[in-house]
Amino acid sequence: MSDNTVDPGRRRFLTGTATVIGGIGASFAAVPFVASFQPSARAKAIGAPVEVDIGKLEPGQRIIQKWRGKPVWILRRTPEMIESLKSFDTGILRDPESDKSAQPKYAKNSWRSENPEYLVLVGVCTHLGCSPTFVPEPGAAGMGSPWNGGFFCPCHGSKFDLAGRVFAGVPAPANLEVPPYQFLTETRMKIGADKENAT
Ligand code: FES
Repeated sequence: MSDNTVDPGRRRFLTGTATVIGGIGASFAAVPFVASFQPSARAKAIGAPVEVDIGKLEPGQRIIQKWRGKPVWILRRTPEMIESLKSFDTGILRDPESDKSAQPKYAKNSWRSENPEYLVLVGVCTHLGCSPTFVPEPGAAGMGSPWNGGFFCPCHGSKFDLAGRVFAGVPAPANLEVPPYQFLTETRMKIGADKENAT
């Protein structure tokens, strides 16, 4: 099994909302990780940075890359997704400024990223460690209102926006973690090391 896959979130925009969450779960389980630029097995075992090819990532799609045994999501946000974050009512978030959440300093902003177009998150719920599902459809069934798209943890119902910021009133105590990362070129990035701590 390899370590990286494209999640067809864009396509799911076109599907009925009633089957969204179950469909996403099934899709996630069925699609294997796909290898890209990988270090040796020993390097992976000790948590070495991994390089990812993002050249084929379309707006609205997500790549899942394994790093240190965890799924790391790379979401290429559409202009509409970025715009929806601007208009989002941050009063419904627990930590809108990410003061109590884990991220590199270049991701401590409204987008929680270095480049607003690319969101990089550790795909592990900050409650008890489940992996939330990607629910990009605005107004998706069962997500309540407002819902501009984001991530839903089915284990205990935590919700996160398209920047990984947690909603208030759910079990998860903090925003989804942003790992260190850097862009190597326009089509390649490295997960696990930023420019200040390059390895
Ligand atoms: S593990 Fe995600 S809400 Fe509990």
